Amino acid sequence: MTEEQATALVDGVGAPGRPAWDARLETGVPTIDLQHRILFELMQRIPHGDERGLSPDLSDLLLQLRSYADYHFRYEEDWIRLNASTPRMAEGHQHLHAAFAQRLDQLEADLVGGRLKSAALHDFLRRWLIDHIVRQDLPMIGALRQRSPSHFP
Ligand SMILES: [Fe+2]
Repeated sequence: MTEEQATALVDGVGAPGRPAWDARLETGVPTIDLQHRILFELMQRIPHGDERGLSPDLSDLLLQLRSYADYHFRYEEDWIRLNASTPRMAEGHQHLHAAFAQRLDQLEADLVGGRLKSAALHDFLRRWLIDHIVRQDLPMIGALRQRSPSHFP
């Protein structure tokens, strides 16, 4: 995938009024692809409007999103450990996941403090997920597939 294509996906997929998903986001590992779709659907439930503050619904949604993201990250990190030739690959990826969880903490605090609109939260989460899939997961899984094609469907 070219840099222009990657940027177009990050800008477009799931943005208000834009296509909801794109087959180019599929890694070819069915469980990881399903989990990415579920994360994406959860993110899409965050209101795209100007609401500030943390409503009970939004609070619930963020709790679900966080616990599902934790579950997915653990699954993906275990999958990498199982399939990568060096532990360093899983460690680097784990670091990116942990940085996302920290950022989510900050955003939640901003939302509670009325310093963030739900639309900005939605945009950050959507962009982070698509960017992470396009620029991290896809190249990593693609490289592992090339190295050991027999491990992949
Ligand atoms: Fe990942």
